[in-house]
Amino acid sequence: MSKKACVIGWPVQHSLSPVLHGYWLKQYDIDGQYNALEINPEDYGNILPILESKNYVGANLTLPHKEKIFQHLTHIDEEAKAIGAVNILKLKDGQWHGSNSDAYGFRAHLLKECPDMKKQKALILGAGGAARAITYGLKTLGFKQIILSNRTLEKAQHLANHFSVESSDWNAKENQMQGCDLLVNTTSLGMKGQAPLVLDLSQLPANAIVADIVYNPLQTPLLQAAKNKHFRTLDGLGMLIYQAVPAFEAWFGVRPEVDENVRKILEAKLC
Ligand code: ATR
Repeated sequence: MSKKACVIGWPVQHSLSPVLHGYWLKQYDIDGQYNALEINPEDYGNILPILESKNYVGANLTLPHKEKIFQHLTHIDEEAKAIGAVNILKLKDGQWHGSNSDAYGFRAHLLKECPDMKKQKALILGAGGAARAITYGLKTLGFKQIILSNRTLEKAQHLANHFSVESSDWNAKENQMQGCDLLVNTTSLGMKGQAPLVLDLSQLPANAIVADIVYNPLQTPLLQAAKNKHFRTLDGLGMLIYQAVPAFEAWFGVRPEVDENVRKILEAKLC
């Protein structure tokens, strides 16, 4: 029987996941479907029965469902527990399992593009859900020093305490760039329709990597400024593509290759 998975969100029309998984389903000639399913946050308690009634074997969760689903799951993998969010649901032997591939997605993209990176110091801007996954991802990758800087300092402090890393005042973020190997923007600044993230990069070492998790636009003002100063850059599309790899494998049984074509197709959708 054809296997069905979907992305659940509110709203969900903007999601690139149906294009991404649809491409792999075709590439590997798999009899499956991947749809977009809009579920109102008020109905989050019913996500699992809704999926079952529609014969889904798996789903991706986007905000705000990622954190709220916890109380409805008895099987949650270690990485999802550590991050405090589930982005993959899989029905196995009649039971729903939750896992998280966001940290994996960021790590895999970083390792692919910058296998030679130094892992002494990273500065993460923001303290929301994405910062949580990336902080965990960088810790597991072995970064020695991780600093979280956020407009609302208490949120950075809270997250930093949770992961035993450091926090810093938003006004001091530029000073924190000294000696950094990696700078990551996880705030919504730079996203289409939002103000740009304007940073003075003069204290960032020349061999540092500048990453943005925003992928619309692909070239954020931050990445453009970093490129102009000849830093290595990583855009947000890579994390989106790599986080989908374990999900596709879990539902459809094939671990997909991340090739240039898949990027091109998604890039075209963003234009
Ligand atoms: P996500 O789960 O995708 O990370 P989020 O939880 O809404 O999204 O987090 C958005 C992040 O962008 C937060 O760190 C937020 O800072 P606050 O905690 O102070 O709200 C940050 N952010 C949003 N708008 C910002 C702005 N104008 N200046 C600085 N940071 C901003």
